Amino acid sequence: MHGKSILLIVGGGIAAFKALELVRELRRAGAGITPVLTENGARFVTPLSLAALAGAPVRTSLWNLEDEAAMGHIELSRSADLIVVCPATADLMARAATGMADDLATTLLLATDTPVLMAPAMNVRMWQHAATVANVATLRARGVTVLEPDDGEMACGEFGPGRLPEVAAIVAAVTALLPSRLREGLGVGSDSRPTPRHPAQDFPPPTPPAAEGDRRSTGRGGLVGTRALVTAGPTHEAIDPVRYIGNRSSGKQGFAIAAALGRAGAEVTLVAGPVALATPPGVRRVDVVTAREMAAAVSAALPCDIAVMVAAVADWRVDPAAGKLKKHKGGPPDLALVENPDILASVGHGTPRPRLVIGFAAETDDLLANAAAKLAKKGADWIVANDVSDGVFGEDRTHVHLVSHKGVEDWGGASKAEVADRMVARIIDAL
Ligand code: CTP
Repeated sequence: MHGKSILLIVGGGIAAFKALELVRELRRAGAGITPVLTENGARFVTPLSLAALAGAPVRTSLWNLEDEAAMGHIELSRSADLIVVCPATADLMARAATGMADDLATTLLLATDTPVLMAPAMNVRMWQHAATVANVATLRARGVTVLEPDDGEMACGEFGPGRLPEVAAIVAAVTALLPSRLREGLGVGSDSRPTPRHPAQDFPPPTPPAAEGDRRSTGRGGLVGTRALVTAGPTHEAIDPVRYIGNRSSGKQGFAIAAALGRAGAEVTLVAGPVALATPPGVRRVDVVTAREMAAAVSAALPCDIAVMVAAVADWRVDPAAGKLKKHKGGPPDLALVENPDILASVGHGTPRPRLVIGFAAETDDLLANAAAKLAKKGADWIVANDVSDGVFGEDRTHVHLVSHKGVEDWGGASKAEVADRMVARIIDAL
């Protein structure tokens, strides 16, 4: 984030104090922060603490002559690389969705042509109310990235979705949204929108294994002008400061696919779990640790034309203990597992939907039946089925089947790089 500038609008909710932590993390990552505090935000955090952490004066009003003389609000709304609203309250989102401009925050949001990220926080009933659902849909349709709030116990004592996403997840989303040097260098605007179209009908008829034709055009720029999103590697879910829930994914297949998409000319965002692999040339990489961080980075990388979800996302997380769990305290700890968001399903069933959504299925039993079930459940166009019963993790070779609504293809044994090339050739055909 070095050299990037972020306009941070802090709304009026109990989660506003988390905006202070966000400021610290964004500055640690090298970003410059211009803070804006709404009138109600100032009921929860003081301008002084926000200014001290941001290292910059706080703007609070549209009507402050000194502030306006220093930088007018129109210029302020356009001077940043990204606008982040944290917390985005139901009221602030409603006013932004209806185009109101009755305070500095809403005026900035109306006057800007800069990408906007909103991190919502509110009571669960407010989040689920038809009015908020419609406002969020309106904002998303206009290109605003609205993150999904977290699920859990709320400050008001109720349970459900509505908690502010974790600060690390917001940081991951910011990283995915900030215009990269690569994108700037290519002259590709962040507002380039892929065209909506469902590709399932384009899937060619099943062919025998290892058709030579599939290797033809991957390096020839067949995907120039498209945006691709790849997830790769495992996620780690902390149990305590020293332990985590994880899996054996090495990230090799996802990185190979990101590299092949990049060679074919796509503008690639690779959201990578914790792996020790080099970033493929020309690929924009967003590092994450947890499933929720991955979900936020993925949602910030949308819209795109092609989504390939290769990551082995941990299905469950626990509420991590603040200190190391000790074994002598009355037997094994009681770890209450909470289900993580299904990232592929939210992309496959969500809007804006990429033109082509591809998932992976790592199975030990009933490979093809399980993969076919995931196709429908996750709203994918293709599922790459991978038999992991005798050790594919970390290896360079694999054996996959491509499962689509049209049938099943056995791609036979191949290196992960060959699978990536063949998939990219097939993507070029389908698009
Ligand atoms: N996936 C995801 N988010 C999750 C779980 C899985 O995006 N929380 C994606 C993976 O990246 C992969 C596909 O869904 O593309 C299938 O993953 P897999 O682990 O095989 O399936 P699960 O949904 O976890 O089902 P199960 O563990 O019951 O087989």
